[in-house]
Amino acid sequence: MNDIKNKNKNNKNAVNSEGVEATEAQISVYWKEEAPVSPSVKFIAQANMSDSDIRERFKMENFPECFREYADMLTWDKYWHTTLDAGNPPFWKWFVGGKINASYNCIDRHLAKYKNKAAFIFVPEPEEESHIAITYQELYARVNEFSALLQDFAGLKTGDRITFHLPMVAELPVSMLAAARLGIIHSEVYGGFSGQACGGRIADSGSRVLVTIDGYYRSGNLVDHKANADIAVERAKSLGQPVDKVLVWRRYPGKYVSKSPMVKGRDFFIDDILKDFRGKYTLPVSLPAEAPLFIMYTSGTTGKPKGVQHSVGGYLSYVAGTSKYIQDIHPEDVYWCMADIGWITGHSYIVYGPLALAATSVIYEGVPTFPDAGRVWRIAERLNVNIFHTSPTAIRMLRKTGPDEPKKYNYHFKHMTTVGEPIEPDVWKWYYEVVGKKEAVIVDTWWQTENGGFLCSTIPALEPMKPGSAGPGLPGIYPVIYDENREEVKAGSGRAGNICIKNPWPGIMQTIWGDPKRFVNTYYSKYNKNKDSKDWRDWPYFAGDGAMDASDGYYRILGRIDDVINVSGHRLGTKELESACLTVPEVAEAAAVPVIDETKGRIPAVYITLKPGFEDKEREVTQKVISTIEKEIGKIAKPKYVYIVPDMPKTRSGKIMRRVLSAIPNKFDIGDITTLANPEVVEKIRLLVQGEAPVITRKRPEDLEHFGEER
Ligand code: WTA
Repeated sequence: MNDIKNKNKNNKNAVNSEGVEATEAQISVYWKEEAPVSPSVKFIAQANMSDSDIRERFKMENFPECFREYADMLTWDKYWHTTLDAGNPPFWKWFVGGKINASYNCIDRHLAKYKNKAAFIFVPEPEEESHIAITYQELYARVNEFSALLQDFAGLKTGDRITFHLPMVAELPVSMLAAARLGIIHSEVYGGFSGQACGGRIADSGSRVLVTIDGYYRSGNLVDHKANADIAVERAKSLGQPVDKVLVWRRYPGKYVSKSPMVKGRDFFIDDILKDFRGKYTLPVSLPAEAPLFIMYTSGTTGKPKGVQHSVGGYLSYVAGTSKYIQDIHPEDVYWCMADIGWITGHSYIVYGPLALAATSVIYEGVPTFPDAGRVWRIAERLNVNIFHTSPTAIRMLRKTGPDEPKKYNYHFKHMTTVGEPIEPDVWKWYYEVVGKKEAVIVDTWWQTENGGFLCSTIPALEPMKPGSAGPGLPGIYPVIYDENREEVKAGSGRAGNICIKNPWPGIMQTIWGDPKRFVNTYYSKYNKNKDSKDWRDWPYFAGDGAMDASDGYYRILGRIDDVINVSGHRLGTKELESACLTVPEVAEAAAVPVIDETKGRIPAVYITLKPGFEDKEREVTQKVISTIEKEIGKIAKPKYVYIVPDMPKTRSGKIMRRVLSAIPNKFDIGDITTLANPEVVEKIRLLVQGEAPVITRKRPEDLEHFGEER
């Protein structure tokens, strides 16, 4: 146990009644070190990267030229002359002078060898509907026809923006690759977002064309999606951005499944218009490496969403390189990433990365537990999936609904990924033992929308896994942990701080669309050493996450730095409290939040959901949770309340909304919950915690202003 209480001079420390100081950047770290787990010999024998020389090739002295290795995986129309132009920090330019097209690299160049191989396999949610395999040749035809439509019917050209509001259907990557072919900058808005949210993003990006679909399946219901387009267009218009065309895919071509009327002269069925484009081709536009490929909005509860802008050359190089070495994708693999393409994970690791490597990538339309807890494993068995990629939330949910289900199915993964939040060691072990059947290697990949691709992870055949730790920086990525005084926190010191990346890398965002000032302020101001400096060494990238570097160089990510609970000056990471709760066998999910307390400042409250079959064990579980926290972390962390709830409020990407959960016991304003995946659960929890009485809300104190903020 590393109880870390730093006593640095000159810092703005909180000094508590016990005289303990803690800097703002520090979070106490109580997790126990887990024993390393080695990859199997079978995995190593076939791995893309089993040459330990890679760390040498990517050492700091070889930066930035080391990243040629990734760019050389692509086909360039013109080779670049400057690997990194860092002349205008922090606006990095990669592979300058190079010309390239992403659509060409993901499709055309594979045709000679792989035209009859599946690029995508679409798995509809209704189990009685057949899977649809789209070969590289078929994808080539579809992307060409749709790009011809975008050009000639919608009148779009290189540099224009286009917004997609599409769910998990094959038409989404077709649309992305068609736009990319012409250098039209795409902005996909996650399908589960509201029309309002979509409208705001249309306006911010300045798109005059919206691509949507009439409907799609979720949990057995055919959702009417087109209705959102009407709201989105209204909203964009009210913000000053007219939309002149709404292009509507149909879930079943020829049959319209939405109740929303088509607006004459504005709305068009794509399958109708495509008839005029049958057999049409467009030439992939040779773009400068630093041309934007897409914008992806990342939301926060406060402030407007940030349009994260990614480049063609740098981004594509980075996702190709990391898909090859970290995801271990070979062309013969069947790869299934269960994320949504509406998030960065889907852009990088369902579409661009796997396709750059000519893989077969699975797209599943619906909910993982529909119609039952075995669905995911049936798909894996049926398609012979051998690489699987998902999030801790999904893993917890699958464990909760069917802890023994994977055993019933004959599938074999060689490789599994976890991404999106820290994974508790206990959940990691279930993933490894039950889902992976102790055969699959696991990579815990830490990164963000802004980063384009993975930042920390083990190289799967070369470095042992450690449950709960993401691992070292990837080749060519040099993380560093700073405290609040800009002092470096040494590896192995057992102290946590703010994780930053010392150097630029090809996948890093270029800017925030339309707001370069906010870009510099959000990610670079905090640890910038000299704002006039032209040396990239003075511009570390600030990720906003807390982390700890173990003596073996493995980073344990502790979550967003705003998500800490300061009990009498002890800064407790929410993730550690939750991890302790999850060692109680009856607990399925846990969320820790701060409650205001007169004497101690803040005290944790924990929310728990139970695994099925334990519903009558509330009292017993509450006791166990309390004693486990006391044992694993200490009396200081003893929760003030343990709430057993039916479900956690979650974002559409599956993250628990701690902000909402913290509002309830503290009587803060709950705020907007319309973008939640399950808004109905909030009122149930509120009743349980606050009872029927009318509630007078109070203001969030400053230190909790950003607690649990959604991303
Ligand atoms: C968190 C998702 C711990 C982190 C790719 C980060 C993680 C935020 C991990 C970005 C991980 C992501 N371990 N935490 N393996 N991966 N996070 O932009 O807090 O949706 O800052 O990108 O998720 O979320 P985003």
